[in-house]
Amino acid sequence: MSEQKTEPAARAAASVDGERLWRRLVELSRHGGFGERGVNRQAFSAEDLAARRTLLEWAAEAGLEARTDPAGNLFLRWTPPGAESGAAAVLSGSHVDSQPLGGRFDGAYGVLAGLEALLAVKAAALPLRRPLEVVAWSNEEGSRFQPGLTGSGWVTGKLDLETIRAGLDATGVTCGEALDSFLAGTPGLPQRPREEPIRAYLEAHIEQGPLLEAEGLLAAAVDTVQGIKWFEVVVSGRAAHAGTTPIAHRADAFVTAAALAAELRALALDAEDTTRFTIGRFEVVPGSPNTVPEKVLFTIDLRHPDAGRLAALAEAFAETCAAAERAGPCGVSIRVTSDAPPIAFDPALVQRIEDKLELLGLPRFRMRSGAGHDAMLLAAGTPTAMVFIACEAGVSHNPQEYATPEAVTAGARVLAATLAELGLEEG
Ligand code: GLV
Ligand code: MN
Ligand code: MN
Repeated sequence: MSEQKTEPAARAAASVDGERLWRRLVELSRHGGFGERGVNRQAFSAEDLAARRTLLEWAAEAGLEARTDPAGNLFLRWTPPGAESGAAAVLSGSHVDSQPLGGRFDGAYGVLAGLEALLAVKAAALPLRRPLEVVAWSNEEGSRFQPGLTGSGWVTGKLDLETIRAGLDATGVTCGEALDSFLAGTPGLPQRPREEPIRAYLEAHIEQGPLLEAEGLLAAAVDTVQGIKWFEVVVSGRAAHAGTTPIAHRADAFVTAAALAAELRALALDAEDTTRFTIGRFEVVPGSPNTVPEKVLFTIDLRHPDAGRLAALAEAFAETCAAAERAGPCGVSIRVTSDAPPIAFDPALVQRIEDKLELLGLPRFRMRSGAGHDAMLLAAGTPTAMVFIACEAGVSHNPQEYATPEAVTAGARVLAATLAELGLEEG
């Protein structure tokens, strides 16, 4: 790396205001906040909209151009005075929707670190050739509407609006209805064209695992993300009276589903503890204590770094479900509801992030992501990489989720340095 490039990157990093970033993380967490530091900010909810309005206020204060799109993404752009006309922007961000039992950092950190890094590059008054843009991707988590990753899925052409809008929440509201009222809550925003080119995408995120803390590191470059497949299994039985129906006369959906769930889990687990298998939703219908269940719906979140292993497990799951149906007395169906293959980020960009760690006096380190991120979809068509920061005890998807102010600032500095360098480049 040349001396000329190193120096502006360090200047941008030095302009990061860690206290402002921390303050904003706390402020944003009030939208949907509960308990000491929990956040429940479901996609397209009133809390998600309130968070969006706060982001828009901060963007207006900084003179950024705000745009949206039909998938509900939010883009905040700074075009430097010397930018070449039509130059593609360098994009950075994450999501502000959360899990129902979420924390302050999962997602919100990447958006606010992206904003802080953009402001730092702007403050460093560097002769940037291209715009910098912050993005808050919509419905990343997929906890309210499945599938998740719909904002980045739409922009990257992986999902169409019809599929996104068809999602249904637990109360029967369609994703389309929720999205329409969410978009109506911030009227008048210009639309960002779906095909607009993106020069590069960087996403900062808490690690959501214990590795960095165990290594005594604040931040790292992320080089790969393991594959994720989601399944929905439906077991169909027959409702019957709990007090009068002999076992032999029942088609008890719960009994079949419980045995099937245990069988599928046993198929997935491996001695190395690499495969991740989670049943996070198990719905029993009608859910009445004195009615034999007529139906069970359960979800499976399956993850592995190897696409072949995921495909083999998906096949084994399908065979096991078919065998359960043949054995009777219940019907069994399984379908894949979301499929993100394992991906490798852009090697040059990963290396660039490692260089920035070194530039800022942090050890070089690269690692795999166990969690899914919008970055994994962006990676298909755009040079993409991620910056992870350490989080306490690896806890995430939990109200106790925590990262230190030191790690929060370190990640934003790495991001600012990398954004500055990318923004300075020609072509
Ligand atoms: C995103 O939160 C994921 O499920 O990995
Ligand atoms: Mn996230
Ligand atoms: Mn998450």
